[in-house]
Amino acid sequence: MEIIKEISEMKKISNFWKSKGYKISFVPTMGFLHAAHLALVKKARELGNKVVVSIFVNPLQFGPTEDFKEYPRDLERDLKLLREEKVDAVFVPTVEEMYPPDFQTYVEVTKLTQGLCGAYRIGHFKGVATVVLKLFNIVKPDIAIFGEKDYQQLQVIKQMVKDLNLDIEIIGYPTVREKDGLAMSSRNIYISKEERNSALSLYKSLLMAQKLVKEGIKDPRILKKEMENFIHTHPFTKVQYIEFVDPETLEPVEVIQKPVICALAVYVGKARLIDNMLISP
Ligand code: PAF
Repeated sequence: MEIIKEISEMKKISNFWKSKGYKISFVPTMGFLHAAHLALVKKARELGNKVVVSIFVNPLQFGPTEDFKEYPRDLERDLKLLREEKVDAVFVPTVEEMYPPDFQTYVEVTKLTQGLCGAYRIGHFKGVATVVLKLFNIVKPDIAIFGEKDYQQLQVIKQMVKDLNLDIEIIGYPTVREKDGLAMSSRNIYISKEERNSALSLYKSLLMAQKLVKEGIKDPRILKKEMENFIHTHPFTKVQYIEFVDPETLEPVEVIQKPVICALAVYVGKARLIDNMLISP
């Protein structure tokens, strides 16, 4: 497994693989890998001949009061896991390599980023789109795989690829959950033992919404209230948002008449957790 720190080196290897006709599949990550990342890597292996994983905690997508400094990191462990998955190359650039002092170009997907997490994490998706486009230009993948847990991110990347005419197939991979239903996330490390049960309230509230919709409740305002009340029966929780949106435009829906995405963000202690589910009437 190649471990590559420099952009020029990564480009050289990718160009070589492309010249040989290999299909490159790519999994961008911020490291501290868990089973959900490894599921993306396995999918990448299935779809391509060469698998590249990037590990880069991207400062551009963290707000000034967010957890860039404390974001969990464990490169040695990550590399061991990726070696076991027989990944071909891991791209691990430094912040200086990705953002030299004269860096001044950004990518902004304007509409899809207005609601949901975008409304609370100002500049977050600009940071995501910018780094992902840079990574795409460096790794030159044919296919890139993203988890559906970050549903808005997935839609933003798809839109960017479409708008900027990139020849990359974007694959969404279903959310991987712990046995009890908690969506896997590197940030779950922030959840204490006492908070763990409260963290399950996100998934449980989504199941509850699904059940209520099947029973005939079609008004998102009623559903939101029910979900919020349920979540707040759990200690340490504070709902940031609960939204029912169109799966493609991410615009809020007034009445649930076709499948919608219910997405939510909840603080459990200091951990900000997100989750979502496709809900059909
Ligand atoms: O989902 C993530 O881990 C990050 O947002 C990504 C896509 C690697 C960009 O930094």
